[in-house]
Amino acid sequence: MAVKGIVLAGGRGTRLHPITVAVSKQLLPVSDKPMIYYPISVLMLAGIRDILLISSPDQVPNFVRLLGDGAQFGLNITYAAQESPDGIAQAFLLGADHIGGGPAALILGDNIFHGPSFSDVLEENVRDVSGCVLFGYPVSDPGRYGVGETDASGRLISIEEKPERPRSNRAVTGLYFYDNDVIDIAKNLRPSGRGELEITDVNLAYVRQGRARLVDLGRGFAWLDTGTPEALLQAGQYVQTIELRQGVRIACLEEVALRMGFIDAEQCHRLGAAQAGSGYGQYVMNIASSFRG
Ligand code: TTP
Repeated sequence: MAVKGIVLAGGRGTRLHPITVAVSKQLLPVSDKPMIYYPISVLMLAGIRDILLISSPDQVPNFVRLLGDGAQFGLNITYAAQESPDGIAQAFLLGADHIGGGPAALILGDNIFHGPSFSDVLEENVRDVSGCVLFGYPVSDPGRYGVGETDASGRLISIEEKPERPRSNRAVTGLYFYDNDVIDIAKNLRPSGRGELEITDVNLAYVRQGRARLVDLGRGFAWLDTGTPEALLQAGQYVQTIELRQGVRIACLEEVALRMGFIDAEQCHRLGAAQAGSGYGQYVMNIASSFRG
């Protein structure tokens, strides 16, 4: 059964006030494109074409303006409103119909991933998900994150939220693959002390069943945060540095759609021509031309 994708792009964005008073964090620029392009590109690289985008009621129309129904990228994008940010795991209640009877991939709208052969890593792990697959990233300050500990086979044996004495340096990132049990698990959650349906509680349910795996993203990967002004600027500088140096663009949805076979070169060229006034649009046209040639 095809994996259904969810991008969670709500939240309060309080650490970015006043930038995020009127505009969703996930619409802010990271270098040359809106933040939301990055997580969408990750789902696309995993081969996922059915995507539910969840945001706050006042912001959904802005995402619709930006992405429409996704058909231009060969995607099917639908939308749901989260009335208030009551926790990441609420995505599975709002997204239950969208997920249907198959597996689901959730990505947080403010998470940026970049690394070698990422699409291979994704495609390998999104196939036949049984239980859940989480992605671990080595960080210098694990105490700020959910920290995963595995046995020798990569099976998760514990996840601790913001531990004082972390048992590993592997932070659990904002990309999660689940089998269909995730809907029932989410339905049975109780709000935590801070009043949220916690994604860690979902993951711990799988850990208790011995059905949670942690896949390590090695040191050649980048997993970037965008939650504070400093992190947002650093993420933009990282993307810009690589893009200028290599002459490629990271998370260019038109290019990803073309390479994944979701659209053809003619459609890619049309999408570029529609934004020919920017370097981004020029790049999309060039990619389309080189693909044709
Ligand atoms: P957070 O970074 O925990 O929260 P936030 O984005 O609201 O920022 P701040 O802490 O500055 O107030 O959220 C992680 C991601 O999940 C982010 O993309 C927002 C999203 N999110 C929701 O969409 N709904 C929710 O209920 C929660 C808790 C988060």
